[in-house]
Amino acid sequence: MGSKEVSHPKPHAVFVPYPAQGHIKPMLQLAKLFNHKGFHITFVNTEFNHNRFLKSLGPNSLNGFPDFNFETIPDGLPPSDSESTQDIPSLFNSIRKNLSLPPFLELLAKLNSSASSCSSSSNNNNNNNNDIPPVTCIVSDRLMLFTIRAAEELGIPIVLFITIAASVFMAHSQLPALVEKGLAPLKDEVFLTNGFLDKVIDWIPGIKDIRLRDIPTFSRIRKPDDIVFNFLLEAVQALPKASAFVIHSFYELEPEVIDALSSATANPNIFAVGPLQLLLNHIQQDSSSSSSSSKQIGYSLWKEETECLKWLDSKPQNSVLYVNFGSITVLTPQQLLEFGWGLANSKQTFLWVVRPDLVIGDQAVLPPEFADQIKEMGFIASWCPQDQVLNHPSIGGFLTHCGWNSTIESLSAGVPMLCWPFFADQPTNCRLICKEWGVGMEIDNDVKRDGVEKLVRELMEGERGKEMKRKALEWKKLAQEACGQNGSSALNLDSLVKHVCS
Ligand code: UDX
Repeated sequence: MGSKEVSHPKPHAVFVPYPAQGHIKPMLQLAKLFNHKGFHITFVNTEFNHNRFLKSLGPNSLNGFPDFNFETIPDGLPPSDSESTQDIPSLFNSIRKNLSLPPFLELLAKLNSSASSCSSSSNNNNNNNNDIPPVTCIVSDRLMLFTIRAAEELGIPIVLFITIAASVFMAHSQLPALVEKGLAPLKDEVFLTNGFLDKVIDWIPGIKDIRLRDIPTFSRIRKPDDIVFNFLLEAVQALPKASAFVIHSFYELEPEVIDALSSATANPNIFAVGPLQLLLNHIQQDSSSSSSSSKQIGYSLWKEETECLKWLDSKPQNSVLYVNFGSITVLTPQQLLEFGWGLANSKQTFLWVVRPDLVIGDQAVLPPEFADQIKEMGFIASWCPQDQVLNHPSIGGFLTHCGWNSTIESLSAGVPMLCWPFFADQPTNCRLICKEWGVGMEIDNDVKRDGVEKLVRELMEGERGKEMKRKALEWKKLAQEACGQNGSSALNLDSLVKHVCS
């Protein structure tokens, strides 16, 4: 992959993530790739998240993003000091009510006027303001609908970034058909108990025999004013306005679905570009300058605790189970206990990330008798550098909620999974992990300590675990090839850049 390929005038891409950890991290990674390809980058966070980001990164916070211009827009929610993720329906509601459109338009106008007058802009990070070129395109999360309206007003192209699996994006694109067939949302709770969710759906392009229960949980049951469901429906209706779609996946992982997406979205410009961290690693290896180090860059809204890496150094190869439920999943106090005792009883070594807001309505505190049990065999952190953890040689398995980033990061590292999907796209990811790719086993939704103990042992010591490890390493190899020279993702990134510049 060559660097700084785009000659003057420099194209200028404005990146807008959905305001949550699982969307901000891949958007920052994609922005870094565009930057490497010669783009001037403006990255737009909500005020709430930008402050959290600066706080988590510490004093030299933006050093990892030397050429970025960071800007903020309000999310329309009351200010909060909380370190937890703001709740999803409120976020959807504030975005839907257009609260972010006027400030975003103002921001674009400011960027364009800086371009002509060479005046300064706020939050710049080591940028030479005299070099700000006019905005050429917006790269936006597919859920930030106001950016589509802004692109229309300004007459500039908009690339929608799909931070989920291509299969999940395909299922979302079929939402109107699911509604028409009475499959989403369901009329009442009776449907949850009579085996209805086991109904096989065989008409979604590129996806074979998926059960209704494995389709993303938009909202299972019809509610009078369902903010999340209506929001997602609007997002599907807006898809035709995109000039291109960039998907955080790689062709070899989901070939049939990726092939089918062009006709399903009536848009030929579908670019599977991932795993993003592997593309960044590849650039880093190629790059003669060490200043553009992408490996150690933090992308987190929580402060990363690195002590666990030293602890991992002291453990044998493939001996540690890594447990992390991402940034949004919450457990009941009972579920926390079931997982805790299941891990302790399995007698396997584990690294467990227990976020401060992991347990509903309470501080995530483990009972003292449990803490004693795990002293010997476990390490508890509140947030960790996940890429480094997953790629540590001592990690042998990952107990995950199946968020898409965790899933693709685990595949990139060749680590097999135990799956406990929580909501949204996670049941679909779980099905792909367990059935399609053969690298995981599912923990019952009604989690019990005995079930956890048995599956942890099976993954870490059993024959099925060994087979899954072998398959996970095969996926890792394919992912690395996709990101290497002339690999599918590397070529797609080049085509995407060409498309945007044309
Ligand atoms: C959410 C949804 O839940 C997920 O299903 C969707 O695909 C994206 O948005 P989240 O639940 O946070 O994301 O999970 P995930 O997609 O796995 O993203 C979490 C990100 O935070 C990962 O990139 C992971 O590397 C990072 N992380 C998590 C850390 O760096 N350290 C941690 O301790 C935990």
